Amino acid sequence: MSRKDYPATPGDEGLQEEAAGESVERDQPASTAADDASASYTPGRSIEEQAEERSLRPTSFQDFIGQSQVIDNLRIAVQAARDRGEVLDHILLSGMPGLGKTSIAMLLGGEMGAGNTHVLSGPTLERGKDVVGTLTQLARGDFLFIDEIHRMSAHAEEFLYSAMEDFRVDLIIESGADSRSIKVDLKPFTLVAATTREGLLTAPLRSRFQIVEKLEPYPSSDLARILERSGGLLGCEIEQDACGQLASRSRGTPRFANRFLRRIRDVAQSRGDWKSGDPVKVDAAAVAEGLERLGVDENGLDRVDRKILNVLFSNGGEAVGLKTLAASVGEEQRTIEEVYEPHLIREGLIHRTARGRCATRKAAELYGDPSGQPSFV
Ligand SMILES: Nc1ncnc2c1ncn2[C@@H]1O[C@H](COP(=O)(O)OP(=O)(O)O)[C@@H](O)[C@H]1O
Ligand SMILES: [Mg+2]
Repeated sequence: MSRKDYPATPGDEGLQEEAAGESVERDQPASTAADDASASYTPGRSIEEQAEERSLRPTSFQDFIGQSQVIDNLRIAVQAARDRGEVLDHILLSGMPGLGKTSIAMLLGGEMGAGNTHVLSGPTLERGKDVVGTLTQLARGDFLFIDEIHRMSAHAEEFLYSAMEDFRVDLIIESGADSRSIKVDLKPFTLVAATTREGLLTAPLRSRFQIVEKLEPYPSSDLARILERSGGLLGCEIEQDACGQLASRSRGTPRFANRFLRRIRDVAQSRGDWKSGDPVKVDAAAVAEGLERLGVDENGLDRVDRKILNVLFSNGGEAVGLKTLAASVGEEQRTIEEVYEPHLIREGLIHRTARGRCATRKAAELYGDPSGQPSFV
């Protein structure tokens, strides 16, 4: 029986529609689908930027710079699964946007030397069929990458439990008195999930991942190596001190480092005696000018970071709630929580209390205006 013979899943109208996900052949570069999946929560990523980001994405463990503990753990798991001829265990990757979760998810298929990678995005998974449709299409050894998994609905999530544990889904057919449940066997597969908010995952879901890895912001030395690699791919020669300065102002995040590098490359190209075909030489002056144009200051804070601090300053030291803060700076609450706040907290510029966010003394020293007026807009 094909899956189309099962008219209903619990609370669903049916499974007739095709799966929402896209499949990625193993030997293709990381997919558009993967980028679309993560685009929603990362501000300021244009279509061109996403395409360029794909071209900079590491495609093997060898290519992946930094996060050595995480990569070592995954390398061992991959080797062990390959040696046993088994599918890889389910993997949960957490960490701030832009640290490399999608890149890792997309390179695992190549490292296993088997399986296609199918991509789904948590926010689009509402009904059972949104996830069951893809699960039933998976071949043995395939990868299912679910980005932003904490944003899938509770209803869709329930189908993952037996799928992950027993490679099986229970479908309810018919409704009312005649309803009965049918077990549909799935091919053994690997679920790779990414989340920016590990704390929002339910316990039953989290416990079904055998491998849980957290990506941390990169030290500047790793970001400098990432920038060297990206510079090579983008046709830039980055001077050593320029590379160090850019790395230290990139919020510990490769996505920011690469984004800044692209803009700085434009600046460098426009100032010197660059000729078509030559590598673009990036020096410290180009970095300084480029970052100034981008509104990134010497501490790596951008305009939104400074706006956040100003809102906090203007409240006279009282805590400001997330909703008010988001409305005041014109960003989504989620973006504040996932992108801006972690960096400001890490830099010791704000802290969270039960009533909201407060600026720290360090923030006041660096950015506060002695007159008490907001100093940046
Ligand atoms: N370890 C790394 N080495 C080289 N480039 C990286 C690394 N991690 C991330 N990047 C770059 O940063 C971009 C964003 O990474 P991505 O995997 O999309 O992050 P996430 O999914 O965690 O938001 C990638 O396209 C890639 O260019
Ligand atoms: Mg991603």
